[in-house]
Amino acid sequence: MGKLIAVLSGKGGTGKTSLCAGIASALAQSGERVLCIDCDIGLRNLDISLGLADFCALSFVDVCSGNYPLDSATQHPDFPTLFFLTAPANCTSADIDEERFAAFLEDAKKQYQFILLDAPAGIEAGFRLCAKHADQVILVTGADPASVRDAARAGELLEKMGKTQVRVIVNRVNEKLYHDLCVTVDDVMDRAGLPLLGITPDDPDVTLSAAFEQPLLCYNKRSAAAKACKRIAKRIQGFPEPIPYK
Ligand SMILES: Nc1ncnc2c1ncn2[C@@H]1O[C@H](COP(=O)(O)OP(=O)(O)O)[C@@H](O)[C@H]1O
Ligand SMILES: [Mg+2]
Repeated sequence: MGKLIAVLSGKGGTGKTSLCAGIASALAQSGERVLCIDCDIGLRNLDISLGLADFCALSFVDVCSGNYPLDSATQHPDFPTLFFLTAPANCTSADIDEERFAAFLEDAKKQYQFILLDAPAGIEAGFRLCAKHADQVILVTGADPASVRDAARAGELLEKMGKTQVRVIVNRVNEKLYHDLCVTVDDVMDRAGLPLLGITPDDPDVTLSAAFEQPLLCYNKRSAAAKACKRIAKRIQGFPEPIPYK
């Protein structure tokens, strides 16, 4: 059975979508069969970070509703084992039929080694929908007090939901900012109260790759953020990849 991983945060703009795309590409590049699902209903943009904005992708609701089979997910042209379903544009998380969604995810777990859910910001219906079925949760946070507090709050909610496999990615690590804020990655982890899955640097190539509609790993595979995504993917696969943090 495949592993279902929800990429969450409390606060918006922490880098969920960018990291979801980067990690999914890295997992696929190392041969894993991966399904990436945009769960940010109404505000989808995972297609952009995956370099698939020009593709006419099915939404996960198209598949959940039984109108299309799961194998009609969009296959990525650069990563043949990476598949994508977008979010529906015209509904809300509350409109999703939970039973069908659960059955669809169970089915997906039989066909893919990893399923990554890119969640919306906030801790409401979309957060719960993604977290509920996840085997593992990745919480993405920055170093700023608001996103760390929101990550801690999200961590508490996940604990209440019985989620035990929750790890943090500290995104947009920037030496100067950390110096000026007088914080370290350890401080961020301590405040979030959760174990660390990885750190990703503040890297303009993340924004540039999306602007040029290319996956980060194709736009610049040697960029610091691309390398960080590859290291995180290895840890998710269970390899003992060290975290090079300062
Ligand atoms: N590691 C990073 N370095 C630089 N910019 C980043 C990084 N991660 C995300 N960004 C930028 O931050 C913005 C928000 O990222 P996004 O992935 O859309 O966040 P979320 O999905 O959490 O709302 C985007 O403009 C993206 O390019
Ligand atoms: Mg997003």
